[in-house]
Amino acid sequence: MRTELCGIEMKNPLIAASGTFGFGREFDELYDISCWGAVSVKGLTLRPRAGNPPARIAETASGMLNSIGLQNPGVDAFIRDELPWLVSRGIPVIANVAGSSEDEYAEAVRRLSDAPVSMIELNISCPNVKHGGVHFGTSPEAAREITAKARACCKHPLMVKLSPNVSDIAEIARAVEEAGADAVSLINTITGMAIDAVSRRPVLANITGGLSGPAIKPVALRMVWQAASAVKIPVVGMGGITTADDVAQFMIAGASAVMIGSANIADPMAGPRIIAGFERRLRELGADAPGDLVSSLRTDNPTDDGRM
Ligand SMILES: Cc1cc2nc3c(=O)[nH]c(=O)nc-3n(C[C@H](O)[C@H](O)[C@H](O)COP(=O)(O)O)c2cc1C
Repeated sequence: MRTELCGIEMKNPLIAASGTFGFGREFDELYDISCWGAVSVKGLTLRPRAGNPPARIAETASGMLNSIGLQNPGVDAFIRDELPWLVSRGIPVIANVAGSSEDEYAEAVRRLSDAPVSMIELNISCPNVKHGGVHFGTSPEAAREITAKARACCKHPLMVKLSPNVSDIAEIARAVEEAGADAVSLINTITGMAIDAVSRRPVLANITGGLSGPAIKPVALRMVWQAASAVKIPVVGMGGITTADDVAQFMIAGASAVMIGSANIADPMAGPRIIAGFERRLRELGADAPGDLVSSLRTDNPTDDGRM
């Protein structure tokens, strides 16, 4: 199950996805969180943020909408109050970073560069904030610029988290690779909304939110495959993973590792269940190691065996 991602040794290729795992403390009361290959923490901004007003979550068919709006204690409080404990659990920590301006992103990355995190994940794809967030992830020029700026002040491997709310994901993936990203992760949530017919009001106070969970898996698989076909750097795939077979599918599409998000919210024990299941599934699929699955998608015609 051992996997290497941008020089980071992980005991398996499964990572807890940002925003669905907090800083790990609540989950550690239920199981030993060091079973994860790595943990990506809640999106961090330079200064603390209260997030959007409630309601911020709505259940949908086979998924959920959220409009949390990057509620977090800020980079300095994270480094002081949360990181030492997380590091002591022996898991590689991925610091997910967001901001309202290029300078804010850069300063947050600079402060995390001297902290004992294993990697920085630049979130240029948050659909739930008014300034910044997804703005940086929807044009190749903006994505290139913010990546280059972060790369210049980042001492750790830099992974850029891409938005699915674009028409050409390959173009954005190539832009951030050219700007110095060491890996890309995708997908973040797909912008959606829910309406209450009786009150004729949006269910979320923010009106729109990000859709996640099994409902988005086919879109995520398609985008992971397109991004992996477009770049040479590793791709970390996510979107709707709830089973060990889902993990295998993302790796076959081109993901070197995967992240598990909403599944942690639907079932707090999803992590250990999927990790144990993936070890079995690997053997069933005849793979000696996770790497055997990566980018192994066959696109030849299975019926094209010479028969009529
Ligand atoms: C409640 C919630 C909060 C999230 N917060 C963040 C965040 O702070 N930073 C980020 O990059 N992604 C965030 N995400 C997106 C997830 O990390 C993931 O990309 C997305 O949910 C798709 O994966 P899933 O279908 O497995 O949940 C959040 C998702 C949810 C559901």
